[in-house]
Amino acid sequence: MRIAVIGAGYVGLVSASCFAELGHEVVAIESDEQKLKQLRSGIVPIHENLLPELLARHVGTRLTFASDIATGTKHAQAVFITVGTPPAHNGDADLSFVEMAAREIAAALRSPTVVVEKSTVPVRTSDAVRRTMLLSGADPALFSVASNPEFLREGTAVSDFLYPDRIVVGTDDDYARSVLAEVYAPLTTGAYYRREDAIPGSPADNARILFTSVKSAELIKHASNAFLAMKISFINTVANVSEAVGADIAEVCQGIGSDSRIGSRFLNPGIGYGGSCFPKDLLAFRSIATHVGCDVELLTATINVNQRQRNSFIEKVRRAVWNIRGKRFAVLGLAFKGGTDDTRDSPAIAIVRQLRLEGALITAYDPAAMERAKAELQNLAIDYANDPYEACRGADALIILTEWQSFSELDLKRVATLLRWPILIDGRNLFDVDDAKDAGLDYHSIGRKPEESSRKRLADRSDSTSEMLLGTKAETEVKVCQP
Ligand code: UGA
Repeated sequence: MRIAVIGAGYVGLVSASCFAELGHEVVAIESDEQKLKQLRSGIVPIHENLLPELLARHVGTRLTFASDIATGTKHAQAVFITVGTPPAHNGDADLSFVEMAAREIAAALRSPTVVVEKSTVPVRTSDAVRRTMLLSGADPALFSVASNPEFLREGTAVSDFLYPDRIVVGTDDDYARSVLAEVYAPLTTGAYYRREDAIPGSPADNARILFTSVKSAELIKHASNAFLAMKISFINTVANVSEAVGADIAEVCQGIGSDSRIGSRFLNPGIGYGGSCFPKDLLAFRSIATHVGCDVELLTATINVNQRQRNSFIEKVRRAVWNIRGKRFAVLGLAFKGGTDDTRDSPAIAIVRQLRLEGALITAYDPAAMERAKAELQNLAIDYANDPYEACRGADALIILTEWQSFSELDLKRVATLLRWPILIDGRNLFDVDDAKDAGLDYHSIGRKPEESSRKRLADRSDSTSEMLLGTKAETEVKVCQP
């Protein structure tokens, strides 16, 4: 198939590379000249596992680039729109880039083309795309509009694409259906999985394609993200109860997640969800639901619980160190989650900002997101370390904000000796409570009672700070236990 992909952001670049990997001829269209230059010379502008391998395999052969839609879509049988849909000031998705793309596709339309929405858009956007194309002079006999939402997670997007739980295709006509069936045939027939050079993965079976109406497909995308976000807000709510009553959230999650109707994935408590998708999609979904007169209470609760989770983490820090002002914190993690350099709507960045606002001194480290974080936090005085241990040296406490695998492999004993006070406040529950205890750390995590072992170590230090820390701890426990 000849495919054009408009927009070489996270979704566009991954999709274009994966379509090429499946054997299609792909043109990725990007208007940012700087980015185009990088891509053409083999530089991968984002941190995404396996993407460099795919680009190395296909750039210049099955994957080429164009700077304008007219050139890039010239021979395409399917044109995927993967432009940004950022939130507008009122929470609606800003669809102006989608509209612009629709107009330009219409102007360039010469042969039968399936226009596919892959950007996350509110239900009924396909109607608007179709109307815009008609108003722009497109021949209705030459095009149809389909929806093919993506369910890619940043960091594992390539594997998610090639080994999907399901492929959703929303279309109201047979031609579009047959074109999209052919696009994904290497996955649905299993031909790709039999290839010797296939990107490794473990397909449970051949990929499943689900054909729906266009509106259902659009709704599936928003509903999926809203459900996952709700699951996270739910488990964070349970974690707070668990912590207050002295239960262990890890055990609770195991117990809940073992029920196959619930499942164990996306049940990790933490500092709340972030990123470029969940926060924006929840707002957009709530907005469209409100427009059509439906109740949005559940979505509002999900959003509010998420915001409160960030605030309650700051309170946890306060309980652990007493006064935040003047304390130096080693902060590990700035990306919105592990495995990515993306800091958009990162809860870690929000927490760092708040700590600075309250007068904390910060030495931060992230394995991939440091450059982006520096740009975002440029108006705040923050020190950056070259590795986690350097960040810890002399800090009053260590705070973990992103679930990087490498952080969970830290030598906790070494951490405890480098810190001025052996206090670890872990927003991602990366450590076993006993391991932290054995390392002599005063360990605060989410949904588990703070570890008491190192109280003794603090008490052994007979200066005023340790007394204050111990005093605050006792006060906190009394508060938590009150009904
Ligand atoms: C999310 C969805 O998972 C994808 O299916 C979807 O395609 C994508 O949005 C999108 O709409 O484009 P992504 O934003 O990459 O993917 O990140 P997730 O892995 O879903 O994590 C989102 C946030 O939730 C992160 O801040 C993460 O730390 C947090 N999270 C995730 C938790 O706090 N607990 C969990 O158990 C899982």
